[in-house]
Amino acid sequence: MSETVAAADALSTALPEAAAEIERTLDALLPRPEGAESRLFEAMRYAAMGGKRLRGFLVIEGARQFGVARASALRTAAAIEMLHAYSLVHDDLPAMDDDDLRRGKPTVHRAFDEATAILAGDALQAAAFGTLADEDTHSDAAVRVELVRCLARAAGARGMCGGQMLDMLAEQAGAPMDEPAIGRLQLLKTGRLIEFSAEAGAILGKAPMAQRHALAAFGRELGAAFQIADDLLDATASAEQAGKRTGKDAEAGKATLVSLLGIERARLQAERLAEQAIRHLDSFGERAGLLRALAAFTVQRKN
Ligand code: IPE
Ligand code: IPE
Ligand code: MG
Ligand code: MG
Ligand code: MG
Repeated sequence: MSETVAAADALSTALPEAAAEIERTLDALLPRPEGAESRLFEAMRYAAMGGKRLRGFLVIEGARQFGVARASALRTAAAIEMLHAYSLVHDDLPAMDDDDLRRGKPTVHRAFDEATAILAGDALQAAAFGTLADEDTHSDAAVRVELVRCLARAAGARGMCGGQMLDMLAEQAGAPMDEPAIGRLQLLKTGRLIEFSAEAGAILGKAPMAQRHALAAFGRELGAAFQIADDLLDATASAEQAGKRTGKDAEAGKATLVSLLGIERARLQAERLAEQAIRHLDSFGERAGLLRALAAFTVQRKN
């Protein structure tokens, strides 16, 4: 068996195993649906469950490079998945992408209502930061502050929210964007959170700066490849495969590399970015095998 095939094989067990552990951690961290406001708690749980857990897996595998305790890595992975779930709930709202299907189920505002979806997103975001700030995540307060600071930067005005603003403005303007502008939009809306996911293990492990930067650079290129792959799925996959409505980006006039370059060139670009991402892992040796396999999976995935 070639090395690449063996790594893909290892990933096909490691990713679902990590996903199950992350779900158990989320289940333990999220409020139990009881009391007068239980509708909110139910919506948070509904939003947080399911998904591929790629961001959480990046945290776990990054943390493994530095021998970080599993519980610390899992809580950090769960926090990032909460933040990501919040971003999806708000992304699906009628005021944004107006979607009715997510992770193979009705979106939160469809299953509940818009007010509940907005609040569930808000509360998931707060829970993400609360989890990182908790002593159980890491005994060193300086590490916890660094996680909080970096997640805030990745998720906020100069990160995911800023990118989502550019995405909405491009849709409203309806004017085509050039490749550098689309690259920046995607770096912010998707790349920053994936970059942080890859970097978080190094923060937890108090890794030397060179290794932390290498993981961050891996995440940044992976994030760019990831969003192009998402745009390709929108253009080519069925809703059953993707677990969400597809064919919507072209209809909405979204600025994507697929609309600019076409499917084949966008696919080549995603593959090139994934290969570039993997090169940043050279100094990590065999221990980073699953991270390399994840980069390959990111551009080949079918959902
Ligand atoms: C979808 O992310 C949203 C984007 C940033 C493109 P994922 O494809 O990681 O969604 P889940 O978590 O697996 O559902
Ligand atoms: C969303 O990008 C990125 C987020 C920050 C949530 P998309 O709008 O392309 O994600 P999907 O296709 O709805 O999952
Ligand atoms: Mg969107
Ligand atoms: Mg969307
Ligand atoms: Mg999409």
